[in-house]
Amino acid sequence: MQAILEVKNLRFRYRPDEELIEDLSFEVKRGEFFGILGPNGAGKSTLLKLVLGFLKPQGGQIRLFGKPLEEFREWKKIGYVPQRFSVERAFTGSVGELLRAVAPKEKVGWVIAFLHLESLLRRPFNQLSGGEQQKVLLAMALTTNPELLLLDEPMTGLDVHAQAHIEEVLKELSKDRAVIVVSHDIGFVLRNARRILCLGMPFCKVIEPGEFEGILRDLYRLH
Ligand SMILES: Nc1ncnc2c1ncn2[C@@H]1O[C@H](COP(=O)(O)OP(=O)(O)OP(=O)(O)O)[C@@H](O)[C@H]1O
Ligand SMILES: [Mg+2]
Repeated sequence: MQAILEVKNLRFRYRPDEELIEDLSFEVKRGEFFGILGPNGAGKSTLLKLVLGFLKPQGGQIRLFGKPLEEFREWKKIGYVPQRFSVERAFTGSVGELLRAVAPKEKVGWVIAFLHLESLLRRPFNQLSGGEQQKVLLAMALTTNPELLLLDEPMTGLDVHAQAHIEEVLKELSKDRAVIVVSHDIGFVLRNARRILCLGMPFCKVIEPGEFEGILRDLYRLH
């Protein structure tokens, strides 16, 4: 089966003297829940931005749905929830209006039901709590029914019920698409991901959940 995302020999640095991502290679296939773990500053958010073409790598290749990133145009196939997101403060519209701004009404119905957002629809987005906003952002990313979901810390700010709900939602979604999740919630990643990219060690590598204990100390420098 063709990989949805292929990353080969990727190299990236923000500053000339500081390599952040060195020779990183991995691929993610359809039906996969792919976790990304690593300490603060390891480059996890940066990696997602590279995949989205927001940043340009200094070396290596990224392919999306078989196409080189430079030629890829079908951005509706990709849903992204950034780590930090701010809707213009001046935006006083409701959740319903925000969702309809990204997709026609008939396309957002399933997302509203899927994420149980009915009670929030009429509320102004800028008056929601952090966790409620987080769910709406996930809904916005889902409205195009994307085949690849990139989520940067989707659990942050969610209470235990919301976390359990979103975990179920992501598990369900990953069955027939690819879900890539950056998270500091190690338990959540180990429970769900079949493969995990560990970023931030001298040699970043893809492991299976069972191998995590062996590299935990190296990854988070717990010496
Ligand atoms: N625009 C930027 N210009 C220069 N340096 C940056 C920029 N964005 C991030 N960095 C640096 O690059 C490194 C990686 O940042 P990144 O946000 O990818 O880390 P992260 O793994 O997502 O961390 P966290 O777990 O804290 O979210 C950090 O040292 C950060 O300070
Ligand atoms: Mg980050």
